[in-house]
Amino acid sequence: MAKNKSQEEVSGISHAIQKLIKIILYILIQIIFIPFAIIGLIDGIYKEMVISKKKGVSFSAGQALQYRWIMHYFGTRPDKLSVEFVKKFPCESHFGLWTTMGALIISQRLFGFTTKMGRLPNPGKETLGSTAGARVLAFDKIMEKYVDEMDQIVLPGAGFDLIALNFTKNKNMKVFELDQSKTLDIKVETLKKAGIKHDWITFVPVDYSRESWAVKLLEAGFDKTKKTLFLWESGSLFLEEDIAKESLSDMVDLCADGSVVAQDFYSQAFISGEISSIVRRNSNLIGKMGEPWKFGIDMSSDPKEAVRSFLEVCGLKMVDCIQFGEKIDIEPFYCVVEAKKL
Ligand SMILES: C[S@@+](CC[C@H](N)C(=O)[O-])C[C@H]1O[C@@H](n2cnc3c(N)ncnc32)[C@H](O)[C@@H]1O
Repeated sequence: MAKNKSQEEVSGISHAIQKLIKIILYILIQIIFIPFAIIGLIDGIYKEMVISKKKGVSFSAGQALQYRWIMHYFGTRPDKLSVEFVKKFPCESHFGLWTTMGALIISQRLFGFTTKMGRLPNPGKETLGSTAGARVLAFDKIMEKYVDEMDQIVLPGAGFDLIALNFTKNKNMKVFELDQSKTLDIKVETLKKAGIKHDWITFVPVDYSRESWAVKLLEAGFDKTKKTLFLWESGSLFLEEDIAKESLSDMVDLCADGSVVAQDFYSQAFISGEISSIVRRNSNLIGKMGEPWKFGIDMSSDPKEAVRSFLEVCGLKMVDCIQFGEKIDIEPFYCVVEAKKL
Protein backbone atom coordinates (compact mmCIF):
# COMPACT_ATOMS: atom_id res chain seq x y z
CA MET A 1 0.00 0.00 0.00
CA ALA A 2 2.76 2.40 1.10
CA LYS A 3 4.80 1.30 -1.95
CA ASN A 4 1.90 2.12 -4.25
CA LYS A 5 1.60 5.55 -2.68
CA SER A 6 5.27 6.33 -3.15
CA GLN A 7 5.12 5.04 -6.76
CA GLU A 8 2.23 7.43 -7.34
CA GLU A 9 4.23 10.29 -5.83
CA VAL A 10 7.24 9.48 -8.02
CA SER A 11 5.10 9.36 -11.14
CA GLY A 12 3.39 12.62 -10.11
CA ILE A 13 6.76 14.34 -9.72
CA SER A 14 8.08 12.98 -13.03
CA HIS A 15 4.87 14.14 -14.73
CA ALA A 16 5.30 17.63 -13.27
CA ILE A 17 8.97 17.74 -14.39
CA GLN A 18 8.02 16.66 -17.91
CA LYS A 19 5.36 19.37 -17.99
CA LEU A 20 7.86 21.97 -16.83
CA ILE A 21 10.41 20.91 -19.47
CA LYS A 22 7.71 21.18 -22.15
CA ILE A 23 6.76 24.68 -20.98
CA ILE A 24 10.43 25.78 -21.01
CA LEU A 25 10.95 24.33 -24.52
CA TYR A 26 7.79 26.03 -25.70
CA ILE A 27 8.94 29.40 -24.28
CA LEU A 28 12.31 29.03 -26.03
CA ILE A 29 10.61 28.33 -29.38
CA GLN A 30 8.19 31.20 -28.78
CA ILE A 31 11.10 33.58 -28.17
CA ILE A 32 12.54 32.67 -31.59
CA PHE A 33 9.13 33.35 -33.13
CA ILE A 34 8.54 36.75 -31.48
CA PRO A 35 10.05 39.06 -34.16
CA PHE A 36 8.25 37.16 -36.94
CA ALA A 37 5.03 37.10 -34.88
CA ILE A 38 5.06 40.91 -34.59
CA ILE A 39 5.31 41.29 -38.38
CA GLY A 40 2.77 38.48 -38.88
CA LEU A 41 0.31 40.04 -36.46
CA ILE A 42 0.46 43.39 -38.26
CA ASP A 43 0.04 41.66 -41.63
CA GLY A 44 -2.88 39.56 -40.27
CA ILE A 45 -4.74 42.46 -38.68
CA TYR A 46 -4.25 44.60 -41.80
CA LYS A 47 -5.63 41.92 -44.11
CA GLU A 48 -8.46 40.75 -41.84
CA MET A 49 -9.68 44.20 -40.87
CA VAL A 50 -8.54 46.77 -43.40
CA ILE A 51 -8.52 44.81 -46.66
CA SER A 52 -11.72 42.89 -45.87
CA LYS A 53 -13.54 46.15 -45.05
CA LYS A 54 -12.20 47.79 -48.22
CA LYS A 55 -13.41 44.88 -50.31
CA GLY A 56 -16.77 44.67 -48.49
CA VAL A 57 -16.15 41.05 -47.55
CA SER A 58 -17.72 39.33 -44.53
CA PHE A 59 -15.38 39.60 -41.54
CA SER A 60 -17.24 36.89 -39.60
CA ALA A 61 -16.83 34.45 -42.50
CA GLY A 62 -13.10 35.21 -42.45
CA GLN A 63 -13.00 34.48 -38.70
CA ALA A 64 -14.70 31.12 -39.27
CA LEU A 65 -12.18 30.31 -42.01
CA GLN A 66 -9.34 31.23 -39.67
CA TYR A 67 -10.66 28.74 -37.11
CA ARG A 68 -10.68 25.97 -39.70
CA TRP A 69 -7.03 26.79 -40.46
CA ILE A 70 -6.27 26.53 -36.72
CA MET A 71 -8.12 23.20 -36.45
CA HIS A 72 -6.09 21.82 -39.34
CA TYR A 73 -2.72 22.71 -37.84
CA PHE A 74 -3.65 21.69 -34.30
CA GLY A 75 -4.91 18.33 -35.53
CA THR A 76 -8.54 18.59 -34.48
CA ARG A 77 -9.90 18.56 -38.06
CA PRO A 78 -7.84 18.03 -41.20
CA ASP A 79 -8.79 20.57 -43.86
CA LYS A 80 -6.08 20.99 -46.50
CA LEU A 81 -8.41 22.90 -48.80
CA SER A 82 -8.96 25.67 -46.24
CA VAL A 83 -5.18 25.99 -45.81
CA GLU A 84 -4.64 26.24 -49.58
CA PHE A 85 -7.49 28.75 -49.71
CA VAL A 86 -6.04 30.91 -46.90
CA LYS A 87 -2.68 31.06 -48.71
CA LYS A 88 -4.33 32.89 -51.63
CA PHE A 89 -7.02 34.75 -49.72
CA PRO A 90 -6.42 38.53 -49.67
CA CYS A 91 -8.24 39.03 -46.34
CA GLU A 92 -6.16 36.60 -44.27
CA SER A 93 -2.46 36.06 -43.70
CA HIS A 94 -1.14 32.50 -43.77
CA PHE A 95 2.21 33.95 -42.71
CA GLY A 96 0.52 35.86 -39.88
CA LEU A 97 -1.28 32.77 -38.60
CA TRP A 98 1.89 30.68 -38.75
CA THR A 99 4.08 33.22 -37.02
CA THR A 100 1.60 33.90 -34.21
CA MET A 101 0.69 30.25 -33.65
CA GLY A 102 3.75 28.45 -34.99
CA ALA A 103 5.46 28.00 -31.62
CA LEU A 104 2.39 26.25 -30.22
CA ILE A 105 1.93 24.13 -33.34
CA ILE A 106 5.58 23.02 -33.38
CA SER A 107 5.58 22.35 -29.62
CA GLN A 108 2.46 20.21 -29.95
CA ARG A 109 3.89 18.25 -32.84
CA LEU A 110 7.44 17.81 -31.51
CA PHE A 111 6.87 17.01 -27.85
CA GLY A 112 3.13 16.92 -27.22
CA PHE A 113 2.77 20.30 -25.52
CA THR A 114 -0.98 20.70 -25.86
CA THR A 115 -3.15 23.65 -25.07
CA LYS A 116 -6.91 24.15 -25.52
CA MET A 117 -6.22 24.70 -29.25
CA GLY A 118 -5.24 21.06 -29.64
CA ARG A 119 -8.21 19.57 -27.81
CA LEU A 120 -11.93 19.57 -28.38
CA PRO A 121 -14.39 18.58 -25.66
CA ASN A 122 -16.60 15.51 -25.80
CA PRO A 123 -20.21 16.08 -26.90
CA GLY A 124 -22.22 17.78 -24.17
CA LYS A 125 -19.11 19.25 -22.56
CA GLU A 126 -18.62 22.15 -24.96
CA THR A 127 -17.86 25.55 -23.46
CA LEU A 128 -18.09 29.05 -24.88
CA GLY A 129 -14.40 28.88 -25.75
CA SER A 130 -14.61 25.59 -27.62
CA THR A 131 -17.76 26.38 -29.62
CA ALA A 132 -15.96 27.72 -32.71
CA GLY A 133 -14.35 24.32 -33.26
CA ALA A 134 -17.07 22.04 -31.88
CA ARG A 135 -19.74 23.57 -34.14
CA VAL A 136 -17.64 22.83 -37.24
CA LEU A 137 -17.44 19.16 -36.22
CA ALA A 138 -21.18 19.06 -35.47
CA PHE A 139 -21.97 20.27 -39.01
CA ASP A 140 -19.45 17.83 -40.51
CA LYS A 141 -21.36 15.00 -38.80
CA ILE A 142 -24.65 16.20 -40.26
CA MET A 143 -23.10 16.43 -43.72
CA GLU A 144 -21.63 12.93 -43.37
CA LYS A 145 -24.97 11.55 -42.23
CA TYR A 146 -26.99 12.91 -45.15
CA VAL A 147 -24.68 13.56 -48.08
CA ASP A 148 -25.26 10.22 -49.79
CA GLU A 149 -29.03 10.29 -49.55
CA MET A 150 -29.57 13.84 -50.86
CA ASP A 151 -29.84 15.09 -54.44
CA GLN A 152 -28.95 18.70 -53.69
CA ILE A 153 -27.20 20.67 -50.98
CA VAL A 154 -27.83 24.34 -50.20
CA LEU A 155 -25.62 26.45 -47.97
CA PRO A 156 -27.23 29.79 -47.17
CA GLY A 157 -24.56 32.18 -45.84
CA ALA A 158 -21.79 29.81 -46.94
CA GLY A 159 -19.03 32.37 -46.39
CA PHE A 160 -15.61 30.79 -46.89
CA ASP A 161 -16.67 27.42 -45.59
CA LEU A 162 -15.34 24.66 -47.87
CA ILE A 163 -17.43 21.88 -46.33
CA ALA A 164 -19.26 21.27 -49.62
CA LEU A 165 -15.98 20.96 -51.52
CA ASN A 166 -14.68 18.56 -48.89
CA PHE A 167 -17.73 16.31 -48.88
CA THR A 168 -19.33 16.42 -52.33
CA LYS A 169 -16.42 16.11 -54.76
CA ASN A 170 -17.09 13.39 -57.37
CA LYS A 171 -20.57 12.75 -55.94
CA ASN A 172 -22.35 14.08 -58.98
CA MET A 173 -24.68 16.28 -56.97
CA LYS A 174 -25.86 19.85 -57.23
CA VAL A 175 -24.57 22.26 -54.59
CA PHE A 176 -25.73 25.85 -54.16
CA GLU A 177 -23.82 28.32 -52.01
CA LEU A 178 -25.52 31.60 -51.15
CA ASP A 179 -23.98 34.70 -49.68
CA GLN A 180 -23.59 38.40 -50.34
CA SER A 181 -22.08 39.14 -53.73
CA LYS A 182 -18.73 40.62 -52.63
CA THR A 183 -18.06 37.69 -50.32
CA LEU A 184 -18.91 35.16 -53.01
CA ASP A 185 -16.89 37.00 -55.68
CA ILE A 186 -13.78 36.86 -53.57
CA LYS A 187 -14.43 33.22 -52.69
CA VAL A 188 -14.56 32.21 -56.34
CA GLU A 189 -11.53 34.36 -57.19
CA THR A 190 -9.55 32.74 -54.35
CA LEU A 191 -10.63 29.20 -55.27
CA LYS A 192 -9.35 29.85 -58.80
CA LYS A 193 -6.05 31.28 -57.57
CA ALA A 194 -5.58 28.31 -55.23
CA GLY A 195 -6.32 25.88 -58.07
CA ILE A 196 -9.23 24.32 -56.13
CA LYS A 197 -11.79 22.72 -58.45
CA HIS A 198 -15.32 23.91 -57.75
CA ASP A 199 -17.17 23.52 -61.05
CA TRP A 200 -20.09 21.55 -59.55
CA ILE A 201 -20.92 24.36 -57.14
CA THR A 202 -23.33 27.12 -58.11
CA PHE A 203 -22.68 30.40 -56.29
CA VAL A 204 -25.80 32.49 -55.78
CA PRO A 205 -25.24 36.11 -54.73
CA VAL A 206 -28.03 37.40 -52.52
CA ASP A 207 -28.64 39.66 -49.55
CA TYR A 208 -31.47 37.90 -47.79
CA SER A 209 -32.36 40.87 -45.65
CA ARG A 210 -33.39 42.70 -48.86
CA GLU A 211 -34.07 40.03 -51.51
CA SER A 212 -35.86 36.72 -51.72
CA TRP A 213 -33.15 34.09 -51.63
CA ALA A 214 -35.73 31.45 -52.58
CA VAL A 215 -36.39 33.23 -55.88
CA LYS A 216 -32.66 33.59 -56.52
CA LEU A 217 -32.12 29.91 -55.76
CA LEU A 218 -34.84 28.80 -58.15
CA GLU A 219 -33.43 31.11 -60.85
CA ALA A 220 -30.04 29.46 -60.32
CA GLY A 221 -31.43 26.03 -61.17
CA PHE A 222 -32.55 24.65 -57.80
CA ASP A 223 -35.03 21.79 -58.30
CA LYS A 224 -37.96 21.87 -55.84
CA THR A 225 -38.78 18.22 -56.46
CA LYS A 226 -35.40 16.93 -55.24
CA LYS A 227 -34.38 15.87 -51.77
CA THR A 228 -32.24 18.65 -50.33
CA LEU A 229 -30.00 19.23 -47.35
CA PHE A 230 -29.98 22.86 -46.22
CA LEU A 231 -26.97 23.66 -44.04
CA TRP A 232 -27.36 27.06 -42.45
CA GLU A 233 -24.34 27.41 -40.20
CA SER A 234 -24.01 30.51 -38.02
CA GLY A 235 -26.05 32.68 -40.38
CA SER A 236 -29.39 33.43 -38.74
CA LEU A 237 -27.82 35.38 -35.85
CA PHE A 238 -27.05 38.22 -38.29
CA LEU A 239 -30.72 38.66 -39.23
CA GLU A 240 -33.70 40.27 -37.56
CA GLU A 241 -35.96 37.63 -36.02
CA ASP A 242 -38.75 38.10 -38.60
CA ILE A 243 -36.25 37.72 -41.46
CA ALA A 244 -34.79 34.59 -39.88
CA LYS A 245 -38.34 33.20 -39.63
CA GLU A 246 -39.17 34.20 -43.18
CA SER A 247 -35.96 32.60 -44.46
CA LEU A 248 -36.80 29.34 -42.70
CA SER A 249 -40.38 29.39 -43.96
CA ASP A 250 -39.02 29.92 -47.50
CA MET A 251 -36.79 26.90 -47.00
CA VAL A 252 -39.81 24.84 -45.98
CA ASP A 253 -41.59 25.84 -49.20
CA LEU A 254 -38.59 24.54 -51.14
CA CYS A 255 -38.39 21.22 -49.27
CA ALA A 256 -39.33 18.08 -51.21
CA ASP A 257 -40.17 15.03 -49.08
CA GLY A 258 -37.16 13.75 -47.18
CA SER A 259 -35.35 17.09 -47.21
CA VAL A 260 -33.50 18.19 -44.07
CA VAL A 261 -32.85 21.67 -42.67
CA ALA A 262 -29.84 21.84 -40.36
CA GLN A 263 -28.95 25.05 -38.60
CA ASP A 264 -27.70 26.50 -35.35
CA PHE A 265 -29.22 28.86 -32.82
CA TYR A 266 -27.51 31.08 -30.26
CA SER A 267 -29.14 32.18 -27.03
CA GLN A 268 -30.33 35.74 -26.47
CA ALA A 269 -27.83 36.02 -23.61
CA PHE A 270 -25.04 35.10 -26.06
CA ILE A 271 -26.18 37.55 -28.74
CA SER A 272 -26.47 40.43 -26.25
CA GLY A 273 -23.05 39.60 -24.79
CA GLU A 274 -24.56 39.21 -21.33
CA ILE A 275 -23.18 35.70 -21.07
CA SER A 276 -19.50 36.69 -20.80
CA SER A 277 -17.16 39.60 -21.28
CA ILE A 278 -15.17 37.69 -23.95
CA VAL A 279 -18.32 37.08 -26.00
CA ARG A 280 -19.26 40.75 -25.54
CA ARG A 281 -15.87 41.90 -26.84
CA ASN A 282 -16.13 39.55 -29.82
CA SER A 283 -19.65 40.76 -30.55
CA ASN A 284 -18.51 44.41 -30.39
CA LEU A 285 -15.65 43.70 -32.78
CA ILE A 286 -17.89 41.89 -35.30
CA GLY A 287 -20.48 44.69 -34.95
CA LYS A 288 -17.81 47.30 -35.67
CA MET A 289 -16.85 45.34 -38.77
CA GLY A 290 -20.43 45.83 -39.99
CA GLU A 291 -22.08 42.53 -39.01
CA PRO A 292 -23.91 43.03 -35.71
CA TRP A 293 -25.49 39.98 -34.08
CA LYS A 294 -29.23 40.41 -33.94
CA PHE A 295 -31.17 37.23 -33.42
CA GLY A 296 -31.05 34.79 -30.54
CA ILE A 297 -33.50 32.47 -28.83
CA ASP A 298 -34.46 32.74 -25.18
CA MET A 299 -32.78 29.58 -23.85
CA SER A 300 -33.06 30.51 -20.18
CA SER A 301 -35.64 27.90 -19.18
CA ASP A 302 -35.91 25.01 -21.68
CA PRO A 303 -33.59 25.56 -24.68
CA LYS A 304 -34.72 22.54 -26.71
CA GLU A 305 -38.39 23.41 -26.24
CA ALA A 306 -37.72 27.04 -27.20
CA VAL A 307 -35.96 25.94 -30.40
CA ARG A 308 -38.63 23.34 -31.16
CA SER A 309 -41.46 25.88 -30.90
CA PHE A 310 -39.55 28.44 -33.01
CA LEU A 311 -39.08 25.85 -35.75
CA GLU A 312 -42.73 24.84 -35.55
CA VAL A 313 -43.83 28.42 -36.26
CA CYS A 314 -41.74 28.23 -39.45
CA GLY A 315 -43.34 24.91 -40.48
CA LEU A 316 -40.53 22.63 -39.33
CA LYS A 317 -40.46 19.61 -37.03
CA MET A 318 -37.31 19.23 -34.96
CA VAL A 319 -35.78 15.77 -35.39
CA ASP A 320 -32.55 16.27 -33.48
CA CYS A 321 -31.08 18.94 -31.24
CA ILE A 322 -27.55 19.02 -29.89
CA GLN A 323 -27.28 21.42 -27.00
CA PHE A 324 -23.70 22.51 -26.35
CA GLY A 325 -22.53 22.20 -22.76
CA GLU A 326 -25.60 20.12 -21.82
CA LYS A 327 -23.60 17.81 -19.55
CA ILE A 328 -21.84 20.54 -17.62
CA ASP A 329 -23.00 23.29 -15.34
CA ILE A 330 -23.13 26.12 -17.84
CA GLU A 331 -25.87 28.46 -18.96
CA PRO A 332 -27.42 27.12 -22.22
CA PHE A 333 -26.05 29.14 -25.13
CA TYR A 334 -26.04 27.21 -28.42
CA CYS A 335 -27.89 24.41 -30.21
CA VAL A 336 -27.41 22.66 -33.55
CA VAL A 337 -30.65 21.26 -34.90
CA GLU A 338 -31.91 19.02 -37.67
CA ALA A 339 -35.49 19.55 -38.81
CA LYS A 340 -37.93 18.30 -41.42
CA LYS A 341 -41.04 19.78 -42.97
CA LEU A 342 -44.04 19.42 -40.63
C1 LIG B 1 -20.38 33.66 -39.39
S1 LIG B 1 -20.37 33.66 -41.12
C2 LIG B 1 -20.64 31.93 -41.36
C3 LIG B 1 -20.12 31.47 -42.67
C4 LIG B 1 -20.16 29.95 -42.86
N1 LIG B 1 -21.49 29.43 -42.77
C5 LIG B 1 -19.23 29.29 -41.88
O1 LIG B 1 -19.71 28.62 -40.95
O2 LIG B 1 -18.02 29.43 -42.06
C6 LIG B 1 -21.96 34.33 -41.57
C7 LIG B 1 -22.19 34.41 -43.06
O3 LIG B 1 -23.53 34.88 -43.28
C8 LIG B 1 -23.49 35.81 -44.35
N2 LIG B 1 -24.61 36.74 -44.22
C9 LIG B 1 -24.90 37.53 -43.16
N3 LIG B 1 -25.96 38.31 -43.46
C10 LIG B 1 -26.34 37.99 -44.72
C11 LIG B 1 -27.37 38.44 -45.58
N4 LIG B 1 -28.21 39.39 -45.19
N5 LIG B 1 -27.47 37.89 -46.80
C12 LIG B 1 -26.60 36.93 -47.21
N6 LIG B 1 -25.61 36.45 -46.43
C13 LIG B 1 -25.48 36.98 -45.21
C14 LIG B 1 -22.16 36.52 -44.18
O4 LIG B 1 -21.76 37.16 -45.39
C15 LIG B 1 -21.26 35.38 -43.76
O5 LIG B 1 -20.63 34.74 -44.85
